[in-house]
Amino acid sequence: MSKVIVFGASGLLGASLVPMLRARGHTVLAQSRGPGADLCLDPSDRTLVAAGLAEHRPAAVVNLVAATNVDLCETQTELAWEANAGVVAAIADGIDACGGEQSFRPHLVHVSTDQIYDGAGPHAEKEVHPINVYGLSKYTGELLAARVGATILRSNFYGRSRCAGRVSFSDWLVHSLREKTPITVFDDVKFSAIHIDTMCDFIVRSIELRPAGIFNAGCRDGISKAGFALALARALDLPSDNVKVGTSADMTLKARRPLDMTLQVARLEAALHLQCPSMLKEIEHTAKEYLND
Ligand SMILES: NC(=O)c1ccc[n+]([C@@H]2O[C@H](COP(=O)([O-])OP(=O)(O)OC[C@H]3O[C@@H](n4cnc5c(N)ncnc54)[C@H](OP(=O)(O)O)[C@@H]3O)[C@@H](O)[C@H]2O)c1
Repeated sequence: MSKVIVFGASGLLGASLVPMLRARGHTVLAQSRGPGADLCLDPSDRTLVAAGLAEHRPAAVVNLVAATNVDLCETQTELAWEANAGVVAAIADGIDACGGEQSFRPHLVHVSTDQIYDGAGPHAEKEVHPINVYGLSKYTGELLAARVGATILRSNFYGRSRCAGRVSFSDWLVHSLREKTPITVFDDVKFSAIHIDTMCDFIVRSIELRPAGIFNAGCRDGISKAGFALALARALDLPSDNVKVGTSADMTLKARRPLDMTLQVARLEAALHLQCPSMLKEIEHTAKEYLND
């Protein structure tokens, strides 16, 4: 079992990852800029990050810090670049400062996004084509993380949020289904997103196995967002009369969005010695989680 620093631990993914790491016996230091964090510091401050790593000597570092609001990134570009690339540069520099093979060198697990793809999927890792500031800044973060031999997981996830004030895609769907709120879901947008628990499991395995490189972390297949919404409604045994199936053209957003974010996952399966789940399995797992609320 090892010591792990989780940067960006206060967010949607961190709120599930930190307890899972602790449950599996790892010692976790949760970083946030907010009060009450184990490591309360600005993660874009290279001096503070390097000092934190030198003091705590973790075996692994997980970076979850990001500006994740895709439309906000399009207009507040400085914020996007600082969170999605500047922070990664600070962490990579801090790891470099830890020294080479003879002393300790933490392994970085960096989380990225399926928003760096465009065009027809399922995408292999080399098919990079970001079409918005979020995607471009996240891709730049990947390049900075790769410099220190990181495991880079390109993903998208859903599941019940354990983070106050953060609502996941499935939280929004389930709430709308239960409250019968009219919503529109797109049948021209496809993804291979996984449940948060599956993503956390991939991160834990990456800490343990330390594969270097970029890996798509998703389901073996894909589904449209409309297909996902209707399948989740069926699995929850909820009526879906309030769900309108539309297309992305029905909505005007500030940032362009890729339509097909489906992923090829063979590289991850080989690196982590596992089989990625199917969408159906993840939807059933998601439904069970909400039914047990
Ligand atoms: N959410 C999704 O659906 C999704 C989909 C695909 C990929 N991802 C990726 O998954 C990872 C985790 O996402 P998440 O949804 O858990 O993230 P999140 O909740 O939006 O944010 C994570 C944390 O980042 C910190 N942060 C944000 N802006 C910052 C800034 N300018 N400077 C320093 N710290 C900042 C915040 O911590 P404090 O304010 O407490 O410091 C925040 O709690 C990210 O790499 C994201 O790109 C997310």
